[in-house]
Amino acid sequence: MRKPMVAGNWKMNKTVAEGVKLMEELIPMINGISSVDRVVCPPFTALYCVSETLKGSEIGCGAQDLFWEEKGAYTGEVAPNMVAELGQYVIIGHSERRTYFGETNETVNKKTLAALKHGLTPIVCVGETLEENQGGKTEAVVSGQILEGLKGLSAEEAAKIIVAYEPVWAIGTGLAATGPDANKVIADYIRKPYASMYGEEAAQAIRVLYGGSVKGSNAAEFFGQPDIDGALVGGASLKAPDFTEIVKAAAA
Ligand code: PGA
Repeated sequence: MRKPMVAGNWKMNKTVAEGVKLMEELIPMINGISSVDRVVCPPFTALYCVSETLKGSEIGCGAQDLFWEEKGAYTGEVAPNMVAELGQYVIIGHSERRTYFGETNETVNKKTLAALKHGLTPIVCVGETLEENQGGKTEAVVSGQILEGLKGLSAEEAAKIIVAYEPVWAIGTGLAATGPDANKVIADYIRKPYASMYGEEAAQAIRVLYGGSVKGSNAAEFFGQPDIDGALVGGASLKAPDFTEIVKAAAA
């Protein structure tokens, strides 16, 4: 049995004060829903204060990115051990990073390996663009992101990762995929290539989240699918009642 997870990706939103306020609202709403793993991923600047606010709660914390080098002259970057000091998770290869910041399957691979080395749980994002989807390239793109992004992980490391399937055309657009369509991509283009590297049993054991315009009103459609284990939530993670609705749907 895979435990459901709902993770909030705040993206470039929330100052320290705003992030702490959101947590003070959210903690009492979702802290008791122990059947779901609940995680928030603030921007780097709010990570310390949010992680302090979360101490003593059941809610986990993560970053939205990291750099693969250990330390040194990499202006503007954040090292894996700096993240590991403050959180348990890290989002890697989000489509916005791939689109706006030149991330490739190769950089995703380096970051995933670095995160694992420092005891972080990577949430590795994959997904096709609208053009790729309409051009019949979903399988090639998504399975390629899995095969290349997870290359060289030991079986033990591969068992620790979480994958998020986020069709790019569904992110922030209000245009979510349908539950069955997302499930098919996850079963055939994520679990299958993963199984080709790490075996069928391991492929059935990892958690795969859906992301892209998830909200309280459509969450149940995704969580009812056999291969979807939760959600990576952007917009709806910025308001405590909206995020709570999704966590409750995952618990139901
Ligand atoms: P969205 O973002 O929920 O606002 O569509 C999801 C994500 O990008 O992780």
